[in-house]
Amino acid sequence: MKLSIAVLFMTLASSVNSFNMVQTSPVRQATSLASATATTGVKRNKNFAKLAGGYLFPEIGRRRNAYLEKNPDANIISLGIGDTTQPIPSAILKGLVDGAAALGTKEGYSGYGAEQGKAPLRERISEVLYNGLIDPSEVFVSDGAKCDIQRIQNMFGPDVTSAVQDPSYPVYVDTSVMMGQTQELDEGKGQYDGIVYMECNEENGFFPDVAASPRADVVYICSPNNPTGVAATRAQLEQTVKTCKERGSILVFDAAYAPFIRSPDVPKSIFEIEGAKDCAIEVNSFSKYAGFTGVRLGWTVVPEGLKFSDGTPVRQDFNRVMTTSFNGASNIVQAGGLACLSDEGMKEIDNLIDYYLENAGILRKTFTELGYRVYGGTDAPYIFISLDGKSSWDTFSEILEKAEVVTIPGAGFGPGGEGFLRLSAFVPREGVIEACERLKKTMKR
Ligand SMILES: Cc1ncc(COP(=O)(O)O)c(C=O)c1O
Repeated sequence: MKLSIAVLFMTLASSVNSFNMVQTSPVRQATSLASATATTGVKRNKNFAKLAGGYLFPEIGRRRNAYLEKNPDANIISLGIGDTTQPIPSAILKGLVDGAAALGTKEGYSGYGAEQGKAPLRERISEVLYNGLIDPSEVFVSDGAKCDIQRIQNMFGPDVTSAVQDPSYPVYVDTSVMMGQTQELDEGKGQYDGIVYMECNEENGFFPDVAASPRADVVYICSPNNPTGVAATRAQLEQTVKTCKERGSILVFDAAYAPFIRSPDVPKSIFEIEGAKDCAIEVNSFSKYAGFTGVRLGWTVVPEGLKFSDGTPVRQDFNRVMTTSFNGASNIVQAGGLACLSDEGMKEIDNLIDYYLENAGILRKTFTELGYRVYGGTDAPYIFISLDGKSSWDTFSEILEKAEVVTIPGAGFGPGGEGFLRLSAFVPREGVIEACERLKKTMKR
């Protein structure tokens, strides 16, 4: 299995190359030949050369397009990338429209800043989403959680060790590699030397025992988790915070799927855990709350008291990153964010989340009835299916070809995801129903 992961990475790299070799006209060929042979005197960043293949989701898109090229009449349903599909509800949309309209008036016009976000939005985030557990001054509004993870890495620099859940959202590993925190990819293991991979599997309920893993400076935990769809319990998070505090690690908690939590007593924020303000940063996003994946709005909470080993407040350095390399989230979009946090907006968000959770329920039921072991989908928009050791990329290809349904192979999230398939509930209802009908035939045991 380990060898097959190495082969997968090599196949990905070579398939990316062969994809570039498209038929071109003589003129274009001459241009592309010239540009292919010309080089500058600039050395490539050696850390980028370490990155394996392409980023997962473009690779899935490439395979889907390759299938469509061969089968132009295919009717593909995507249960793949976790992108929202439902339109933005009316009260939230009105916030965006009013935000844009205000820019056309003398009184409503605004330009740059503040880089940390507009005060009313920081206040509403603190009040509505954190019940006052954090102070507005600890909230940094941004253009999304993915971008904030890269900025957090910028702040930490190359000299830290990072620990990730295996499997996990690929951005934590790839940005660690880009920053130079790792050595090369160990092709046999499918893991980078220098990163601590914390195993998440069926036996440990897909939550790692951080205390049993080697110490890392920065520990990335995502709950509800992408790709497993499992939300961490209070006890698991208490244990994680305790370990991070004892070891002097910083916990980066990704709560991008928090609004999907419906189980009572499952924490939606790491700051619900005592002591977290001494060791944790939280990244979060409006993407999945309100269908803002294309609108772009997120935030990061950096507690005032969180400090580096020399006593420097982490917030001071994160503020430096934000003020230097970010110029504030769009003022239009921040108006949309404020509308999300109005009473009406919150009701609309609840309805949207209910819709996607019902989709997840349909997917869960289908695969449970087919006799698979199914995880997630109750507090998250993803369900994770055990393939009983079967290759996840082979299953992905089989389903694409036989059912014309796009899924995501678990191996794309790290070697620990091999043998699993991730399905996304971000699909219009008729798409889920039709996909399930097709999958009942293809995945029948
Ligand atoms: C765990 C996780 N964090 C962050 C993001 C990205 O969030 P944003 O759209 O705010 O960049 C995603 C997107 O799928 C995700 O799965």
